[in-house]
Amino acid sequence: MGMSFFIIFLIFPFFFFPLVNSFNNSAADSLDALLEDFAFDTLVEHRRHTGVLYKATSPANLSGIQVSVLKLRSRTMWNKGANFSHFSIPPRTTSSPHVRRLALVYQDLGNWSSEYYIVPGYKLVTSVVGFMAFDASNSSAKSITRLNLTTRGKPISIDFHNLTVGESVRSQVRCVIYAANGTTSLSEMSLPGVCQSREQGHFSVVIPEGELKGKQKLCYWWFIGFVLAFAVLVLGGITVVVLVRLLRTKKIQIMERHADEDLALASRWVGQSKMPSAAVTRTLPVLESGCFT
Ligand SMILES: *[C@@H]1O[C@H](CO)[C@@H](O)[C@H](O)[C@H]1NC(C)=O
Ligand SMILES: *[C@@H]1O[C@H](CO)[C@@H](O)[C@H](O)[C@H]1NC(C)=O
Ligand SMILES: *[C@@H]1O[C@H](CO)[C@@H](O)[C@H](O)[C@H]1NC(C)=O
Ligand SMILES: *[C@@H]1O[C@H](CO)[C@@H](O)[C@H](O)[C@H]1NC(C)=O
Ligand SMILES: *[C@@H]1O[C@H](CO)[C@@H](O)[C@H](O)[C@H]1NC(C)=O
Ligand SMILES: *[C@@H]1O[C@H](CO)[C@@H](O)[C@H](O)[C@H]1NC(C)=O
Ligand SMILES: *[C@@H]1O[C@H](CO)[C@@H](O)[C@H](O)[C@H]1NC(C)=O
Ligand SMILES: *[C@@H]1O[C@H](CO)[C@@H](O)[C@H](O)[C@H]1NC(C)=O
Repeated sequence: MGMSFFIIFLIFPFFFFPLVNSFNNSAADSLDALLEDFAFDTLVEHRRHTGVLYKATSPANLSGIQVSVLKLRSRTMWNKGANFSHFSIPPRTTSSPHVRRLALVYQDLGNWSSEYYIVPGYKLVTSVVGFMAFDASNSSAKSITRLNLTTRGKPISIDFHNLTVGESVRSQVRCVIYAANGTTSLSEMSLPGVCQSREQGHFSVVIPEGELKGKQKLCYWWFIGFVLAFAVLVLGGITVVVLVRLLRTKKIQIMERHADEDLALASRWVGQSKMPSAAVTRTLPVLESGCFT
């Protein structure tokens, strides 16, 4: 009985720290494709200057989402990196395949963030922002070609400068990275309000759902305390029962010894050998072996 309480005690914390591995992002992928089309229309409609972030018109049925596009030369990205909105791409970044010009499509999903991106057990505390790199060297090309980015130096950093979370949850804030290759991961912030990534993709900041560190954490410790107290109570009860039984057995043994003496006395009278009493060889009560083995 005691053992099952210890098992509960051991596995209980895992319910509160679920591991994140993947999420179904087919809806997010089709949203990406739609927003990329709008971004490229913006790029193609007008001859755009390199190095300037242009706001794209986002679909009317998705108002609240911001889309922007930045065109830049690969050589510039290699030499200086790129800074736009929340993102800072460090120098020594290359694309594969290599292209002369690339387009970075930036998104801020605003109030749509939690419609498309979720992390089980956590809640978003900033909107989801993201960017993807595309080939922009051929403005007459019909198809949109995604590029991989490789940073040889520092990682890409994402600055959530407007992040405001309460003091109590500050230590539990995590960066969530939905990498373009489909992997979702959680990581600690490198600096307050700053996330880092080696991959392009989507990014946000999360805290455990229900703010476990606040009221619920107290409840959690109350529960642990309760379980422990209960276990102690049960073990104490078992100990008392065992002690009482041991004492009673002892008493019986003493009584039996007295009885034997009486019998021995009687045997002198009768001249017969005394018979061993069955009651003396009775097994002593022990703790149920299931408790501690
Ligand atoms: C993801 O969700 C879509 C519908 O939203 C469903 O058709 C698809 O099978 C799901 N994929 C996986 C891997 O769960
Ligand atoms: C928004 O409208 C576009 C067409 O302009 C459509 O393809 C897309 O599915 C719509 N999205 C939503 C979320 O309604
Ligand atoms: C981007 O910002 C960093 C510092 O925040 C700076 O060192 C770098 O030169 C900037 N790059 C460009 C292209 O503006
Ligand atoms: C987001 O806000 C816009 C108005 O700014 C609204 O039209 C849209 O329906 C909202 N989206 C969601 C998912 O609530
Ligand atoms: C640009 O794209 C167009 C249309 O796809 C193609 O005909 C042309 O050869 C491409 N030019 C270069 C330099 O790749
Ligand atoms: C980008 O990298 C992934 C593996 O991480 C690979 O499967 C994909 O083909 C690459 N794409 C390009 C355009 O190189
Ligand atoms: C950050 O906050 C300032 C004002 O506090 C606001 O003007 C700005 O738009 C905010 N930026 C973002 C990305 O939310
Ligand atoms: C995606 O990229 C991340 C970070 O570079 C890497 O750890 C992970 O293994 C990649 N996943 C796949 C499926 O390629």
